[in-house]
Amino acid sequence: MAPRRFLITAALPYSNGRLHVGHIAGAYLPSDTYVRYLRATGADVRFICGSDDNGVAAVKTAREQKRSVEELTAHYNQSQARDFAGLNIEFDIFGGTHQPGYVKMHEKFSQDFFLAIESKKLFTKRKTKQLYDTKVEQFLPDRFVKGTCPHCASDNAFGDQCEGCGRAIDQLSLINPISVMTDSTPELRETVHWYLRLDELQPRLAEWLAGKKDQQSCGAAWRATVLNQSLGRMEAEGLPERAMTRDLTWGVPVPLDDPDAEGKSLYVWFDAPIGYVSFTGALCEQKGEGVDAFAHWWKDPECKVVHFIGEDNIVFHAITWPAMMLATHDSDSLQGVKGEYQLPHNVVANAFVNMKFPGKDEEKISKSRGNAIWIEEYLQTFDPDPLRYYLTAIAPENARTMFELDDFIGRNNGEFLNAFGNFFNRTMTFAHKYFDGKIPSPSARDDTDSRQLERRREAADKTGAELEDCHFKAALTEVMALARAGNGYFDLTKPFLTRKTDMEACGRAINVCFQTARTLTTLIAPFLPTTAEKCATMLNLPDDWKRWDKAVDELGEGHVLGEPVILVKKLDAKELFGE
Ligand code: MF3
Ligand code: ZN
Repeated sequence: MAPRRFLITAALPYSNGRLHVGHIAGAYLPSDTYVRYLRATGADVRFICGSDDNGVAAVKTAREQKRSVEELTAHYNQSQARDFAGLNIEFDIFGGTHQPGYVKMHEKFSQDFFLAIESKKLFTKRKTKQLYDTKVEQFLPDRFVKGTCPHCASDNAFGDQCEGCGRAIDQLSLINPISVMTDSTPELRETVHWYLRLDELQPRLAEWLAGKKDQQSCGAAWRATVLNQSLGRMEAEGLPERAMTRDLTWGVPVPLDDPDAEGKSLYVWFDAPIGYVSFTGALCEQKGEGVDAFAHWWKDPECKVVHFIGEDNIVFHAITWPAMMLATHDSDSLQGVKGEYQLPHNVVANAFVNMKFPGKDEEKISKSRGNAIWIEEYLQTFDPDPLRYYLTAIAPENARTMFELDDFIGRNNGEFLNAFGNFFNRTMTFAHKYFDGKIPSPSARDDTDSRQLERRREAADKTGAELEDCHFKAALTEVMALARAGNGYFDLTKPFLTRKTDMEACGRAINVCFQTARTLTTLIAPFLPTTAEKCATMLNLPDDWKRWDKAVDELGEGHVLGEPVILVKKLDAKELFGE
């Protein structure tokens, strides 16, 4: 049987800033965990990411920092790639929509995509009025205009969204609009844009999304937050046409031989998701398969495409992007026709994590409040796994959760070290002290032993089932429950006493503890790869130890163990904030 095939993406981060713990909890850690798990089950997986370089955000930041957009985005592309590597988040490719090695291929994919939609007559070219800054002689897209919110009267409203109330904003509805480029009052001028016919595509999108309510078998059910937001949006307001071009020269040029297209780029939310595809093409090329092999991942119903994102990206991934793909189709089937872009099998969105510092209120992570924990800084002091553990333990899968410093330390020292670390530590120490660093004989197992061995199989099954469904937090809970059961078994069988009275019983218990440790090693690997490697070295496991179907294999009597090492270090909060 051919292995299952998956194309997994993690939202392309904007390359105009550093990464903090919220980004990691949102899209990157869960996707990395999922990919590691899928590979352990033998699946054939490609894991795609890269920076989102085009659009207004980068231009705006570059202006503020007085550097070129090229230099800014290259800088953050590299700094983010380092952060991911430091956390063992291992993409098969980390491209960038405007990075030197990728921009050409990306433009080609994006322009072809645009032309495919154009040929299906699913764009409307329309005149519209837009704010224009006469000092720099430029139209002001999206966030280049600020003003007062027409809904909540906050002064922190921009031409795309109000930071006060979070509502989407049409820039023409802003009260007292001001250009962020020159602080002057812009004037209204006429311009032309290409609008995607979301209204035309809506019935089929709605049918496709409604079908996702019942997706249970073979993989994850869709999260309620994703379905509610996207279906809710459609039912409440219907889908208006949306402009897919901008008056901006930084980005992918509009590929039309039309004077009205001059000086315009594709909207960044049009080209960014195509980055998933163009980076897949680049990866195929790097592997010597040729660019066209991207279709093996994107245009074949045998491959499942799964997008991991943060909650603010739901509408774009569950409505706009699938609409773009549908708009390129020849057939009107929703079932997935070979040779056409396949709609996502799942869109997995997490909510945000808020920060909570001692003596302060819970608050949103924000650069200006200075409350972010930057990955770069975290990694100067800590290993990746304590953060990976904590961010999965508090994963904001259904609602927002809180990052609390004390809780981070407590979960590491009190929970992970206590249960998981200690179980390995006491089991290893015992074997080296009393059994010559080898696995003792199982001799004649009793019911307690059998129950503990059975417990391993249950844990492997349950953890696997939760991971299949992208319930990472629940999956980790299962692994930890097995570690605690291991400790419970150790306490109950008391090898520290039987070693003086009944060496056979003592060996029997230690044997079962090692079988448990062996299972834990495979089960923890998708979550904490570094820790799992240490476990595997200590247990001296064969090379295929990550395979999920080997998780309950038994280590034979006389199996030679490796040296014990410290698996989990005790953390001190002061190290992170240096109080
Ligand atoms: N850059 C966007 C953000 O950080 C995400 C883009 S995802 C993609 O919110 F699909 F468009 F690439
Ligand atoms: Zn508002």
